[in-house]
Amino acid sequence: MECLYYVLGFLFLASRLPLDAAKRFHDVLGNERYPGYMRKHNQLNGWSSDENDWNEKLYPVWKRGDARWKNSWKGGCVQAVLTSDSPALVGSNITFAVNLVFPRCQKEDANGNIVYEKNCRNDSGLSLDPYVYNWTSWSEDSDWRSGPGQSQHNVFPDGKPFPHHHGWKKWGFVYIFHTQGQYFQKLGQSSMRVSINTTNMMLGTHIMEVAIYRRHGWAYMPIAQVKDVYLVTEEIPVFVTMSQKNDRNSSDETFLRDLPIKFDVLIHDPSHFLNESAIDYKWNFGDNTGLFVSNNHTLNHTYVLNGTFNLNLTVQATVSGPCPPPSPRPPKPISFLVPAGDNSLEMSETPNGNCQINRYGHFRATLTIVEGILEVNIIQVADAPMPRPKPDNSLMDFVVTCKGTIPTEVCTVISDPTCQVAQNIICSPVDAEETCLLTVRRAFSGSGTYCVNFTLGDDTSLALTSTLISIPGKDPAFPLGTASGVLISVGCLTLFVAVVAILVYKKRKEYKPIENCPGNVVKGRSLHGFLHHTKEGFFWGNQEKDPLLKNQPGTL
Ligand SMILES: *[C@@H]1O[C@H](CO)[C@@H](O)[C@H](O)[C@H]1NC(C)=O
Ligand SMILES: *[C@@H]1O[C@H](CO)[C@@H](O)[C@H](O)[C@H]1NC(C)=O
Ligand SMILES: *[C@@H]1O[C@H](CO)[C@@H](O)[C@H](O)[C@H]1NC(C)=O
Ligand SMILES: *[C@@H]1O[C@H](CO)[C@@H](O)[C@H](O)[C@H]1NC(C)=O
Ligand SMILES: *[C@@H]1O[C@H](CO)[C@@H](O)[C@H](O)[C@H]1NC(C)=O
Ligand SMILES: *[C@@H]1O[C@H](CO)[C@@H](O)[C@H](O)[C@H]1NC(C)=O
Ligand SMILES: *[C@@H]1O[C@H](CO)[C@@H](O)[C@H](O)[C@H]1NC(C)=O
Ligand SMILES: *[C@@H]1O[C@H](CO)[C@@H](O)[C@H](O)[C@H]1NC(C)=O
Ligand SMILES: *[C@@H]1O[C@H](CO)[C@@H](O)[C@H](O)[C@H]1NC(C)=O
Ligand SMILES: *[C@@H]1O[C@H](CO)[C@@H](O)[C@H](O)[C@H]1NC(C)=O
Ligand SMILES: *[C@@H]1O[C@H](CO)[C@@H](O)[C@H](O)[C@H]1NC(C)=O
Repeated sequence: MECLYYVLGFLFLASRLPLDAAKRFHDVLGNERYPGYMRKHNQLNGWSSDENDWNEKLYPVWKRGDARWKNSWKGGCVQAVLTSDSPALVGSNITFAVNLVFPRCQKEDANGNIVYEKNCRNDSGLSLDPYVYNWTSWSEDSDWRSGPGQSQHNVFPDGKPFPHHHGWKKWGFVYIFHTQGQYFQKLGQSSMRVSINTTNMMLGTHIMEVAIYRRHGWAYMPIAQVKDVYLVTEEIPVFVTMSQKNDRNSSDETFLRDLPIKFDVLIHDPSHFLNESAIDYKWNFGDNTGLFVSNNHTLNHTYVLNGTFNLNLTVQATVSGPCPPPSPRPPKPISFLVPAGDNSLEMSETPNGNCQINRYGHFRATLTIVEGILEVNIIQVADAPMPRPKPDNSLMDFVVTCKGTIPTEVCTVISDPTCQVAQNIICSPVDAEETCLLTVRRAFSGSGTYCVNFTLGDDTSLALTSTLISIPGKDPAFPLGTASGVLISVGCLTLFVAVVAILVYKKRKEYKPIENCPGNVVKGRSLHGFLHHTKEGFFWGNQEKDPLLKNQPGTL
């Protein structure tokens, strides 16, 4: 009996020796070493300590550059692409996705097997064999060998059996995720997602490393290893988009005076951790207009001075989570002068033992505010006299005014009535003038309805207005100079078509501005008065009465 104990003891020792030499998860995955206490203390839910042993017989480990990598996959190398939705606010979930990219002409089919694409030519010609890898045939083979349900090779690198849910046999890949001293293993197809709750994670930058194995007979073969950096932060990740009408370049942080800038705050929260939190936005625009507090993620602000301004946004959200352990912080002096803004550990305990924690996000920007073109209006459209009238051509004069700075360039885009298909684009420089009033002459070939877009621009601004114009067919009964275009706002296209139809039908020769349409670019009352005036001018056949012409606008 004693003898038997000795033998058993010896066997035990003998079996210990190779075990001690066995690889552990942290030997296989990652250079990031975490102290042992962290592996235990900092448990990620459902993950295991990387002190566990790695079954190298079933899952061989190759160094980078090992010649065997070359033959680990038929017809080339598999690339693994690892992405994450980092940065993650602590307490939210961070999600990692791995996608396998196969060599040319290979893909995963509906059953999860890897097949050659039909009619796809690779370097060695068309493939005759439909399958690159047929996982089904292997797993059935192996079941037969070792008896159903008892397969010793249907296990992960740490020896845990594969979960036998529906269809698992068709899954040919084993993914091992490793970070912060812990690992997580999963069987799957050519793409894999893993979410981790970051509540117990350490703040800061970490590395996620993933090793991917494929089935290979009764064992597994490494096909790729990939890593990515991610960030766990206690600051709410905040992005702000800023946009403004007439702003020429939305990404240069230069905007125009006297026009509202639209600020839109995007909170990066892919796991919807902040769904239930009330979020406050505190804006300081840096122009001495004070603090704006809002619970809306969009806000308009108009700077009325030019210059450089420091914008400062603080986002505040209250989240519930486990109370952090008491830390030996010096007690903060209680003062009404301390802004509620900056202490990210402000919290209060709720009845269920959780804590309500205030989290903050910050955004700062330096905005340059300049003067620009604020508004552009077409106030008159008229036939231009043609020295030698051609039957199919019309020349039109557009009188355009603008507010703000004097533009340096005017462009016209003539397009179809839907304003989409450009037919003609002309840009011309504008000579600097005291007031913004210009006449733009453009030629139209043939009668019909055209959309004309005017853009007036300078270095920082670009103002646009659109008009639909109807060029009536030339009728000898109506001498040159009396036929006229019809000025309307694009917003009222439907109405316009009806009106034009009537107008053309009746061959009436007058402007028909349509008012009270949403987005009408033509200012109703003043235009009406003005058009009335010019109409008289036309009827008298005396354009000298046009008050605009007294200003001698340059014709472009
Ligand atoms: C993560 O876990 C904490 C505590 O268990 C919980 O309060 C939080 O809602 C979880 N986050 C997500 C995104 O599920
Ligand atoms: C091309 O397809 C054949 C299958 O007919 C395969 O044996 C070969 O490895 C493939 N070559 C490449 C470069 O993928
Ligand atoms: C793939 O394996 C399944 C199951 O063994 C088998 O029915 C099928 O014919 C195999 N396909 C090929 C091309 O070997
Ligand atoms: C967060 O991740 C955990 C796994 O760690 C998962 O169980 C939970 O459903 C996830 N929550 C959300 C909201 O995605
Ligand atoms: C807009 O501004 C950005 C940043 O200054 C610059 O990189 C980009 O070239 C500008 N785009 C144009 C069209 O001028
Ligand atoms: C959060 O809100 C989004 C959109 O409103 C919704 O699709 C999602 O299901 C919500 N998530 C949670 C965890 O409540
Ligand atoms: C935010 O403001 C915009 C514009 O005023 C409004 O359309 C939107 O409904 C508001 N959203 C919320 C959540 O109050
Ligand atoms: C901001 O201004 C735009 C027009 O410039 C308007 O459409 C939008 O409703 C405004 N939003 C808010 C929140 O006032
Ligand atoms: C502001 O605009 C005025 C013209 O109105 C100009 O003279 C001045 O230099 C501008 N100031 C700044 C800081 O750009
Ligand atoms: C921005 O706001 C934060 C918090 O409210 C404050 O600490 C900081 O001094 C502000 N910065 C500027 C430039 O106003
Ligand atoms: C003309 O301007 C309108 C906006 O008023 C725009 O939707 C359209 O695309 C422009 N057309 C062309 C051809 O640039």
